[in-house]
Amino acid sequence: MIDPFARPITYLRVSVTDRCDFRCVYCMTENMTFLPKKDLLTLEELDRMCSAFVGLGVRKLRITGGEPLVRRDIMTFFEGMTRHLESGALEELTLTTNGSQLERFAEELHAAGVRRVNVSLDTLDEEKFARVTRWGRLPQVLRGLDAAQRAGLRVKLNAVALKGFNEDEIFTLSEFCAARGMDLTWIEVMPMGDLGNEDRVGQYWSLNDLRARLAERYTLTDLPERTGGPARYVRLEETGQKIGFITPLTHNFCESCNRVRMTCTGQLYMCLGQEDMADLRPALRNHPNDDAPLREAIREAIAHKPKGHDFDYSRQKADGQVSRHMSHTGG
Ligand code: GTP
Ligand code: 5AD
Ligand code: SF4
Repeated sequence: MIDPFARPITYLRVSVTDRCDFRCVYCMTENMTFLPKKDLLTLEELDRMCSAFVGLGVRKLRITGGEPLVRRDIMTFFEGMTRHLESGALEELTLTTNGSQLERFAEELHAAGVRRVNVSLDTLDEEKFARVTRWGRLPQVLRGLDAAQRAGLRVKLNAVALKGFNEDEIFTLSEFCAARGMDLTWIEVMPMGDLGNEDRVGQYWSLNDLRARLAERYTLTDLPERTGGPARYVRLEETGQKIGFITPLTHNFCESCNRVRMTCTGQLYMCLGQEDMADLRPALRNHPNDDAPLREAIREAIAHKPKGHDFDYSRQKADGQVSRHMSHTGG
């Protein structure tokens, strides 16, 4: 599948639930309303959708949420996707998780063919962790990280850069990851979804600044390679460690975008930062025994993928802002 800007679309991110056992302050309000469970695609429908995308050339599938591992019986879905790995149609099956359930699921994920996981972790301080997630328990996530590594999964940590919150942890988080052989990527907080009284603009901390602080202690070398994702990488010469930066605000990376995202209710969003989407459900449900209409609906949607996002804090709550929460489209 090639989009109107000649970008091959080979990466599908699927949110399998909008629910989460945490309520990170930059992601959700404390009393978020979630979709009624009956609105979600069933696991069989998710399988049919993902398989159609794989048939059309998707090579990398990332399962997200909300928290994907809180969806009941989600391992059945992962196990179903194993057949696409075994046939060689799918190159990578992976997930982004908050780590809270990894202790329980790491081995099953590995058995299903998952080899890498991205775990969201913004702080190594128990009290701060409880605050940013509103009630999460850090030791549970740390046990999840250990379990993942024991099971043979490569781990990448994602930390959202938050002003006045984890500015003082750039070195401790780097050292933590270096000691455990984990990659680390920093993410600029994006203006998505209503956060109630949270001060969205106040949370924002530019990665240009973070990078400058890292450079006070380490020699940074820009690495040319991109892994198909939005991250840019630097190497810390003193330790050899690689650190990624996802900078939707300070540095737009849309020209190399290779991905689309599907929500847990079957809407296909062509861009994280845009509101337009295509509802794939009618094509799925009106033709239970024929995937041709679904494939056509997917092709048609991709033919309208926009050029990129335009996140911008100077237009806070104006047209640059996306009303969807990140958990809806899965980041
Ligand atoms: P790999 O490159 O496969 O390791 O994954 P990734 O970094 O794309 O996936 P991950 O789920 O770890 O993404 C981390 C975060 O990066 C997401 O939750 C989003 O916040 C952000 N992100 C990923 N893709 C995009 C994108 O296309 N546009 C924007 N604006 N942000 C993105
Ligand atoms: N901006 C940036 N990252 C966000 N995440 C959730 N909400 C936001 C936001 N508004 C991150 C999580 C996780 C990933 C799935 O998305 O921390 O790493
Ligand atoms: Fe849950 Fe991830 Fe959102 Fe935190 S950022 S509330 S862990 S979906």
